[in-house]
Amino acid sequence: MDNRPIGFFDSGLGGLTCIPHLMETLPNERIIYFGDTARTPYGSKAVSTIKTFSCEIADFLESENVKLIVIACNTVSATCLDDLRKRHPNTPILGIISPASHTVAKRCNADNRIGIIGTTVTIESDAYRRKILRYNPDLDIYSAACPVFVPLIEEGIIKNEIMDLSIKYYLDQFISYNKIDTLVLGCTHYPLIRENILKIYPHLDIIDPSSEVLQSIMDTLDSRGLYADAPQEGNTFFASDLSENFINMINLIFRNTGFTVAFKNFDLERTV
Ligand code: DGL
Repeated sequence: MDNRPIGFFDSGLGGLTCIPHLMETLPNERIIYFGDTARTPYGSKAVSTIKTFSCEIADFLESENVKLIVIACNTVSATCLDDLRKRHPNTPILGIISPASHTVAKRCNADNRIGIIGTTVTIESDAYRRKILRYNPDLDIYSAACPVFVPLIEEGIIKNEIMDLSIKYYLDQFISYNKIDTLVLGCTHYPLIRENILKIYPHLDIIDPSSEVLQSIMDTLDSRGLYADAPQEGNTFFASDLSENFINMINLIFRNTGFTVAFKNFDLERTV
């Protein structure tokens, strides 16, 4: 048994979409979340920049004495997982791409036309396609980068015609030309626009990696004996910029659960 918290991080508020599944299934666990809202988006930045930011955040979570780190960001999972594991060899670190790829490979067959959407860095890394094909080489996979979705979501532009137009801009041709029937939301921000996507393309079967990661969290806690043995107080959501939208989103998703919102900004510490 281990009552230390589980650490999650993302470039912003997207990784929050992984947490309700965990809270429902594992109510004893305490969560520390870090959203790098001051430096979002990561998905159009150089990989070396993403690595620097991710190392700072993983070091911070380790200093908070977490028992497990979940990279609640596809962009970081696609580019930095091995580096972070080397840097913190004594803390289990989970990415989000492997568990979801496994689900896609199990759930789909050669008749499906699978679309992966994500940030530019995630799509250019080809991490999803490579992983899925390793599990099931018969699948038909297409991918598209949708770089404007994350900045709009961070601004709170979600249930809005600007978001719907952006979805059509990136996906209309992609979905019709490739006859996509299954769509993988390869960015943890995208579950927040799942309803918009389904309203426009109701035929799609949507696979959401933010919920698929829960099984690999449970497997890790189980195999290493890391489950908490009683409910732990004090979920904490850190952000490098306490934007109004970050706070609103937390209040919306986690109301009535008891939590603290806190500020942590590495760049300010460096310059002061
Ligand atoms: N939520 C992050 C992901 O899953 C978004 C990355 C970004 O900031 O562009 O990739």
